[in-house]
Amino acid sequence: ELGPSDLRHVESMSHTPSGAGKINKLNAVILGESLASEENDLVMPSPGFSQSALISSQEQYEKMYKKSVEDPAGFWSEIASEFYWEEKWNPNEVCKENIDVTNGRVNIEWFKGAKTNICYNAVDRNISAGNGDKVAIYWEGNEPGQDGQLTFAQLLDRVCQLANYLKQVGVKKGDAVIIYLPMLMELPIAMLACARIGAVHSVVFAGFSAESLAQRIIDCKPKIVITCNAVRRGPKVIFLKDIVDSALTESAKNNVSVDICLTYENPSAMKREETKWQDGRDVWWQDVVPNFPTKCDIEWVDAEDPLFLLYTSGSTGKPKGVLHTTGGYMIYTATTFKYAFDYKPSDIYWCTADCGWITGHSYVTYGPLVNGASVLVFEGAPNYPDAGRCWDIVDKYKVTIFYTAPTLVRSLMREGDEFVKRYSRKSLRVLGSVGEPINPSAWRWFFNVVGDSRCPISDTWWQTETGGFMILPIPGAWPQKPGSATFPFFGVQPAIVDEKGKEIEGECSGYLCIKKSWPGAFRTLYGDHERYETTYFKPFAGYYFTGDGCSRDKDGYYWLTGRVDDVINVSGHRIGTAEVESALVSHPQCAEAAVVGVEHEVKGQGIYAFVTLVEGVPYSEELRKSLTLTVRNQIGAFAAPDKIHWAPGLPKTRSGKIMRRILRKIASRQLNELGDTSTLADPGVVDQLIALADC
Ligand code: PRX
Repeated sequence: ELGPSDLRHVESMSHTPSGAGKINKLNAVILGESLASEENDLVMPSPGFSQSALISSQEQYEKMYKKSVEDPAGFWSEIASEFYWEEKWNPNEVCKENIDVTNGRVNIEWFKGAKTNICYNAVDRNISAGNGDKVAIYWEGNEPGQDGQLTFAQLLDRVCQLANYLKQVGVKKGDAVIIYLPMLMELPIAMLACARIGAVHSVVFAGFSAESLAQRIIDCKPKIVITCNAVRRGPKVIFLKDIVDSALTESAKNNVSVDICLTYENPSAMKREETKWQDGRDVWWQDVVPNFPTKCDIEWVDAEDPLFLLYTSGSTGKPKGVLHTTGGYMIYTATTFKYAFDYKPSDIYWCTADCGWITGHSYVTYGPLVNGASVLVFEGAPNYPDAGRCWDIVDKYKVTIFYTAPTLVRSLMREGDEFVKRYSRKSLRVLGSVGEPINPSAWRWFFNVVGDSRCPISDTWWQTETGGFMILPIPGAWPQKPGSATFPFFGVQPAIVDEKGKEIEGECSGYLCIKKSWPGAFRTLYGDHERYETTYFKPFAGYYFTGDGCSRDKDGYYWLTGRVDDVINVSGHRIGTAEVESALVSHPQCAEAAVVGVEHEVKGQGIYAFVTLVEGVPYSEELRKSLTLTVRNQIGAFAAPDKIHWAPGLPKTRSGKIMRRILRKIASRQLNELGDTSTLADPGVVDQLIALADC
């Protein structure tokens, strides 16, 4: 997919002594921040926090880290022994790996031959430990006052009923199940039910359009799709079942037919009678699932059997099915959760991510529940009915750990401190951030205003592919630097490499790679192992390439600086520029499109699209709207371009390659940094584009 020569040059991610890269710099300027001393700005953990933390000092971290890299098999076996395994692993074969493409096929295996089940570990095991009456899931609906809860014992009943239903309709170990649900309790229930019977779930974020859903259905050919009729999000109602209906029609055209569409009736959003229905295919969840027994045998699976597929964006058009397996993923998500948030059994944990993304897999469902944590699932929008909703929820449930994305922090920060200060937030102990670099001013607001300067912030850097946290400040152990994800997790060996793939030591900037495998690593791209190797292991032989730029400062702190490939990060949602381009060119009046990311005050990055129209078609406001709508329909609302820039011509080399470097500069209006344009086939297009910039 990518060769090192296609990567964005380190220019856009250089870590100057004063900053965590370009995004931070821009936000910092917008937010009126001084950049001078970022790198020297240390925020110390409070002695009280450190004293009672699981890892309470730098020395303790260093000792554990040393062991984890010198003896990974021993380190992870010891941790794995804390979980339930129906059959143990061979101590001599804890990890088998080849991540060096020059030595043959890339292959990663942890605990192969051992048998376990992640649903058993996340639910039954907690009940056996005497926690059956502990709340596993608190649920807060879209409207304040709408709520529910399930203890671990009740969760087990619900999971078993659904698992039995799935078995009865013929879902077997290894079969794919698509889940297209909003944040109802039924979403983690459905994930766990699949895991219980060894089925492979693929959750599709319920903000994806019918076309995106169809694409995923066509790729993994599920026996069944699980959805609900509609959901309320803030003031809006979204008719999910209609989207599923169109997706199923589309997939049938591609010879993939799905036998059953199990539909949860969500009466607060839509009545059953109003839901469009296809007899023979559609089944109401409430009509069938509760009739099944609340006991369901476990399917013991191999540690290396697939647990789930999650589609994510790459630098080419087609989303890729990231495949995670069971055993390594289980211990990795559970262990990272425990240490990153200094988890204690009395904690009430809230992660605002949707289960449709990896954060919701690893840190709403699996990591916390395997630890026996009480998890809050929130259906609604964080600014509805007003910008104080999050803190209202924090007080209502006495949330102790609050994990969110910088985009949410920035959007709430804009609304002013008053919405925060209205609530006590006394229960909060640890804060977390994920999805994109958090700019220091947002970090500080989160720390000072939300956390009353009391709660450490775990800025967790990781990816869909990594399964769990990779670089993060273990709270209590490290002095933090606002905007830096700090240090690697146990067993993670980061390497910063230069263009030629040579590792650079000490203080430097370059491409972030990882040297060895870790238990939570993805094992392949579904149905395309070659693409797996080409995308992640070929750019820099001997390493896993993350696609991110990174700097390391004089104190060894890591500063993530954003993607260096054609992937952009919009409000923490990852989207390939090629996906947006292919949606745009499907519009009958669009001849060509080039999409780049541009800094955005709230979203981190915004989507900036240059479009060339079919000969003779005039550009108009109406056409702009219609192009935007096409992207919404083909991908989802979150991928809609923030700016459409009409381009009579695009800057291309003589061989016809679009020069994105120039487009990025035009998009960010850095017009005096355009660089050499003499190699363009037609240098005149640049002036033309600049002239049209504010059309
Ligand atoms: O660029 C990095 C950014 O998000 C990308 C991964 O996106 P995705 O697979 O959708 O997973 C998002 C949730 C883990 C990374 O390549 N990213 C994620 N977390 C951070 C981050 N960038 C900087 N700091 C972070 N904490």
